[in-house]
Amino acid sequence: MKVKNICCIGAGYVGGPTMAIIAQKSPEITVTVVDINEKRIAAWNDPDVEQIPIYEPGLSEVVAEARGRNLFFSTDVDAAIDAADMIFISVNTPTKTYGMGKGMAADLKYIELCARQIARVAKNDKIIVEKSTLPVRTAEALKRILDNTGNGVNFQILSNPEFLAEGTAVTDLHKPDRVLIGGDLDSEKGREAIQALVDVYAHWVTPDNILTTNVWSSELSKLTANAFLAQRVSSINAMSELCEVTEADVQEVAKAIGMDSRIGPKFLKASVGFGGSCFQKDILNLVYIAKSFGLNEVADYWEQVILMNDHQKRRFAAKIVKTLFNTVSGKKIALLGWAFKKDTNDTRESAAIYVADYLLNEQAEIVVYDPKVTQEQILADLDYLGTRSEEENRKLITVVNTAEAACAEAHAVAVMTEWDEFKTLDWEAIYTHMLKPAFLFDGRRLLDKEALTDLGFEFYAIGS
Ligand code: NAD
Ligand code: UDX
Repeated sequence: MKVKNICCIGAGYVGGPTMAIIAQKSPEITVTVVDINEKRIAAWNDPDVEQIPIYEPGLSEVVAEARGRNLFFSTDVDAAIDAADMIFISVNTPTKTYGMGKGMAADLKYIELCARQIARVAKNDKIIVEKSTLPVRTAEALKRILDNTGNGVNFQILSNPEFLAEGTAVTDLHKPDRVLIGGDLDSEKGREAIQALVDVYAHWVTPDNILTTNVWSSELSKLTANAFLAQRVSSINAMSELCEVTEADVQEVAKAIGMDSRIGPKFLKASVGFGGSCFQKDILNLVYIAKSFGLNEVADYWEQVILMNDHQKRRFAAKIVKTLFNTVSGKKIALLGWAFKKDTNDTRESAAIYVADYLLNEQAEIVVYDPKVTQEQILADLDYLGTRSEEENRKLITVVNTAEAACAEAHAVAVMTEWDEFKTLDWEAIYTHMLKPAFLFDGRRLLDKEALTDLGFEFYAIGS
């Protein structure tokens, strides 16, 4: 079977870029990305392609190439489901904030709503693709909903987790390390469905990089990949604290161990803590699943990755307070960067949010500059924590348009995101306009310690 019409439910950080690349590489397939969020769809359709709702290097060019040709964005979910022979579900699966599994389990209500809507609308056989990250065995629940509430049509369910990282989504999608497809390998229809999806990716991915497995392995591999990646960051961050008290340098340690081909050099960058919408959510979910099977040692093992990360964020903020003579009350502290990593406007679970919150509790005055994050988003992130009233947040935090404005008259500057532009700021001028002693805290090991110390800064970097 050749897929001619694809629908993707969810036009977010995954659905948008993934479908844009599928459409770019498969001109004969019509791809419609749908969402209930009208504002988001309007932004995807903005005539000025630079206004699309997600900032990713190279994405606007891909959208410009395919949009209106075979890539469409719409709020008419029913129509897109009806027309499609393959439906990707790419809706959010956040950590539950209520009831059983609160704070741990993935909230699957959006997934279930999609399944029920597909079951109601579908009039011909369809392949359903789990693109969202889901707990292992979710496909079983989807199948039961689809088969019991549908119009008697046949649904094949595939798992096709997405491994793109934000900030490099376009290159990750163009050249994936692997594409993982899980399906029912034991039935003819299952194998046909798998092949149909393999054929879509085969437009640009070599067969060796397309891996097929059973559904459960595929679902669990996604959680496992994120757990392993986050574990490396927590491991090096644990070492960063030990480096600071022993005069070892975490960058040198990372280089030394990374040259061991069994360890490898990637994901060994000590930082103020990992953020992003995936790592914490997916590990918490893994911990919850392990506990639900009574596997307490497995659960405790992985939970430690999160506890270490929480500690890293807290200790960075505490270091600022301690260094500033044990009080930041009424002091201006500039935060450079708010996004959870460079080259994205996504702020979900960003370390900056937690460091800011800690410093606000110490009555600091925070000034933020981020090249891609809006004031509205920064305030929303803080309000969401619910630590203090919205009025107080607005009184204590200011968002400005340049790094220089953020740092002027500040007692301290903290680099929270590794944006390239921070490396080439006029640090001499910034030093001149700061209060003295001028403290600089590098949460990303982005800056040149020697050069900045020579300029007069009191310089601290994570891990040395
Ligand atoms: P997102 O919040 O950016 O996008 C999800 C979109 O789904 C939202 O726009 C929302 O309005 C829409 N939606 C929810 N319910 C809907 C419904 N019933 N009908 C239509 N639209 C609906 O989320 P995201 O970052 O794109 O993540 C989506 C999934 O992909 C999650 O499971 C996540 O874990 C996974 N994932 C994310 C990344 C990443 O880097 N962000 C990477 C790999 C996997
Ligand atoms: C991650 C996974 O990498 C990706 O495969 C998955 O699909 C989604 O989750 P993402 O969260 O977008 O991607 O970014 P990633 O590059 O993994 O960074 C996550 C966080 O870890 C960021 O805050 C980053 O700054 C931090 N990090 C990463 C470090 O602190 N040190 C490192 O060495 C690497």
